[in-house]
Amino acid sequence: MIRIAPSILAADQMHIADEIGRVIDAGCDLLHVDVMDGHFVPNLSFGPDMVREIHKAFPELKLDVHLMLDNPGRFISAFAPCAYGITVHAEIPDNVGDMLDFIHTEGCRAGLSLKPATPVESVMDLLPRTDMVLVMTVEPGFGGQPFRWDMISKIRRLRQMGFSGLIEADGGLTRDNLPALHDAGLDIAVMGTAIYRSDHLKDDILYIHSL
Ligand code: DX5
Ligand code: ZN
Repeated sequence: MIRIAPSILAADQMHIADEIGRVIDAGCDLLHVDVMDGHFVPNLSFGPDMVREIHKAFPELKLDVHLMLDNPGRFISAFAPCAYGITVHAEIPDNVGDMLDFIHTEGCRAGLSLKPATPVESVMDLLPRTDMVLVMTVEPGFGGQPFRWDMISKIRRLRQMGFSGLIEADGGLTRDNLPALHDAGLDIAVMGTAIYRSDHLKDDILYIHSL
């Protein structure tokens, strides 16, 4: 079974609470929150206040916080009380291993994300300290981009390397590419556009769960 984490980046930003309620009603498993700083990626999005408010309004909802920041260490403590998992990027200038340990100290699951150009081999030593690997299947920064099929091999490779934690894919996921992602070993589908623009949300989530 693949679990689904809708990405609120693609939600109607004027009606975020309704948009979150809608995906909860349809059966989502987590909610993906993209945090961007305008440096690590060329876009800005949500901060800790937003995550806090979501957690207050939907305390049962597991928040999967994806930090696309140059200095995630400065913000981990602000997100941790409200997050289920916090994911940092392998490409940041700071020591990524220390960051993963810090996320654990703060009581969250620690995720490690790889941009398309980052090979899985480069993070091999970090895998024992990682609960989930978030494989970017687009260049991070914006929703609605086309899926990079060549990224599927990274998921297969992670499994071959013996990684037994959770594997997420993020960017351009649709019904077309989910079966191949599933075959490769995907656990969690992060989906923005395909979920929030869907006219048959419940069916789509049932389908994802059936994989
Ligand atoms: C991109 C974000 C994604 C994005 C996915 O930087 O990390 O979470 O919202 O959106 P779609 O599914 O539209 O590609
Ligand atoms: Zn994301």
